[in-house]
Amino acid sequence: MRKILTVLGARPQIIKSAAITRIIQSEFNNSLTEIVLNTGQHYDANMSDDFFHELSIPLPKYTLSLSKNAVFSTSDMIEKIDKIVHDESPDLMVVYGDTNSTLAGAISAVKNNIPLVHIEAGMRSFNMDMPEEKNRILTDHCSRLLFSPTFQGIANLKNENINTENIFHCGDIMLDNSMYYSKCRTEYSTKLKRIDLPERDFILFTCHRQSNTDNKAHLFEIIEGVKAISKLTRKQIIFPIHPRTRKQIVYFFGQAYLENLSHVFKIIPPVGYLDTIQLEVNAEFVITDSGGLMKEAYFFEKKSLILRNQTEWVEIVELNAAVIAGCKKDQIIDSYYKMLTLQPKFEPIFGKGDAGRFICKTILEQLK
Ligand code: UD1
Ligand code: UDP
Repeated sequence: MRKILTVLGARPQIIKSAAITRIIQSEFNNSLTEIVLNTGQHYDANMSDDFFHELSIPLPKYTLSLSKNAVFSTSDMIEKIDKIVHDESPDLMVVYGDTNSTLAGAISAVKNNIPLVHIEAGMRSFNMDMPEEKNRILTDHCSRLLFSPTFQGIANLKNENINTENIFHCGDIMLDNSMYYSKCRTEYSTKLKRIDLPERDFILFTCHRQSNTDNKAHLFEIIEGVKAISKLTRKQIIFPIHPRTRKQIVYFFGQAYLENLSHVFKIIPPVGYLDTIQLEVNAEFVITDSGGLMKEAYFFEKKSLILRNQTEWVEIVELNAAVIAGCKKDQIIDSYYKMLTLQPKFEPIFGKGDAGRFICKTILEQLK
């Protein structure tokens, strides 16, 4: 029996982890056992605990409470993860993606000589100003097994001279979940039904990236750009708002601005995963700076406007399913017009939705 310590902390990581937990429980419970450690990076219930319940996965054995006094949260996480690594003595550690929790887990694994498994390895934006780019490069370079969702990811890792014997193409773990949970969703949850939502014919909008929310001009231009698209299309904008974005809007523009904005957009708190799938399926298209949302839009064959200057998921843009729209009002509007002319190809570039099984099998073969 191999003991896995999974370290996660942000909303998308809880969602991704469900695919591995599910497959361990159903197919590998004689050979793999998993302990989950939540760093507590995301702490609001609707950004964390609610997902464990909704996705029918056990609550983590450990949830850290991060000190507000730490110099930066990653250092506090490392110290606390380290203690749990000592107590649990896992055979390997699994981390996902590129958040501060990913890096904290990675550093603790390396310092304790625990083989590190990185799921969603190899993704690059080539923008070192992003905290995520630093996190993912550092994590990839200390991983024993690197599971990349795309061939572009594999190429990126090879270009950085990472040992090819440690790199595996596995497809996208998020597709496992989109396929599995889209069968469970039937309609909006009662929570969402209470909100007066249009059934269809709306645009789904999310925004939370640091470079967009912590820059007053960017945030303003993005909001103005999305407002303009709402006017042009005469479609309602559904905006499940990340807590960071809500705080930054109030900080830069005031509470009254946010209230006025809610007359233009349908601003709702972060929603559950099944509701998000339902929103993606029913949306006309998606406007987002989220990597996860961009991919799910693609899985459900929706186009997206990307509120960034580059993306790690370049294939989606190359297949005409997304347009890089930046964070300036005029560019966002131009990108919308460009998007209208595109004939996307929704090719199966993210695999078949069985990344979880492949990852578990490979862990057992490689880490004897
Ligand atoms: C983090 C990840 C980002 C990922 C995103 C998913 C890093 C560097 N960034 O960004 O890659 O796309 O999660 O959502 O790790 N906040 C709350 N309640 C919460 C969570 C956050 O109020 O439950 C607010 C806090 O003010 C916090 C701020 O949001 O300081 C930023 O949170 P943080 O986890 O640092 O970054 P995210 O923007 O969520
Ligand atoms: N998501 C969700 N509720 C929301 C917004 C997003 O469940 O209100 C899900 C979405 O379906 C996807 C993941 O969260 O699976 C994406 O996370 P996020 O946008 O926070 O981060 P990113 O993918 O950019 O790292």
